[in-house]
Amino acid sequence: MTLHEHATPAEKVAAMGSLPAKVDVKAPLVSQEALTEGVLKLTAVAPSIALRAMPGQFVQVGVNRGGTLLRRPLGIAEADPATGHVSLIYRVAGKGTLALSQLKPDDEIKLLGPLGHGFSTKAEKPLLVGGGMGLSPLLYAAEYLLGHKTETDVLMGGRTEKELFWQQLFKDCAKNIHLTTDDGSLGTKGFVTTILPELLKENGYDLVIACGPEIMMKNVAKVCKEHDVPCEVSLERRMGCGLGACLSCSIDTVSGRRKVCKDGPVFPAEEVFF
Ligand SMILES: Cc1cc2nc3c(=O)[nH]c(=O)nc-3n(C[C@H](O)[C@H](O)[C@H](O)COP(=O)(O)OP(=O)(O)OC[C@H]3O[C@@H](n4cnc5c(N)ncnc54)[C@H](O)[C@@H]3O)c2cc1C
Ligand code: FES
Repeated sequence: MTLHEHATPAEKVAAMGSLPAKVDVKAPLVSQEALTEGVLKLTAVAPSIALRAMPGQFVQVGVNRGGTLLRRPLGIAEADPATGHVSLIYRVAGKGTLALSQLKPDDEIKLLGPLGHGFSTKAEKPLLVGGGMGLSPLLYAAEYLLGHKTETDVLMGGRTEKELFWQQLFKDCAKNIHLTTDDGSLGTKGFVTTILPELLKENGYDLVIACGPEIMMKNVAKVCKEHDVPCEVSLERRMGCGLGACLSCSIDTVSGRRKVCKDGPVFPAEEVFF
């Protein structure tokens, strides 16, 4: 492939020939903005990751400051093959994410990815169910699926209205957005499982994709089982290597010990909640 002067990042990557499934790249930041208190959206240039990222996959992020040697796993919130941009949405939880939050445009991070197995992309009528930072990979799922002509509905839950700033991010890529809050300040009062049975009964979803606190995913999986709708869940474990080598993310499943980083993070619910 001969490159013309104005080749897009995707064309430049394609010109390199076939790439390995994952890459380890230095990625300059394009932007970093606060979405709400303690939650930031970072966008970096990483065309070789943007081009191959599937929804539900994650990256291991390295920051050369703050004394953090280990990389931190973060789900892919957006990936645009045309611009080569990859976005991550994260909560400042400790020293790794704090160091990340202090970076400015043109600072560089290290990105290893895309890692793990993502969500199924074959469903015709999927419902995405999320809470907290679990909504981050669901955002890419909604954008990716829309780009592949599949509309998604989203059910999101939070403690209060303030936690549902996500609805702004999903407004252009989801068809219907259903909201619940624990205190009733927005949407239906209660957990996502308060309205999930009704949604499953009325809408004929052929897949539920859940990402959020484990207790939420367990309860979502239970409701899905009762309504005979397949459910996928994305698990979180502390990770060392992200590549299947250190065993720090091992879990028990119906088919024995599996590694969340390599065999997951997405699993059929019945494989892990049994
Ligand atoms: C596959 C995967 C995808 C993830 N995607 C996202 C994402 O999109 N956005 C986001 O905000 N976070 C995400 N996380 C969680 C994120 O990795 C942790 O918040 C981050 O590693 C904390 O690093 P730290 O150095 O800031 O905190 P540390 O100083 O290491 O820890 C601070 C606190 O965070 C908790 N913590 C650390 N790692 C995890 C973890 N893996 N799971 C749960 N709690 C943890 C610790 O128990 C501790 O209480 C993801 C985790 C995994 C495994
Ligand atoms: S993080 Fe090392 S094996 Fe999963």
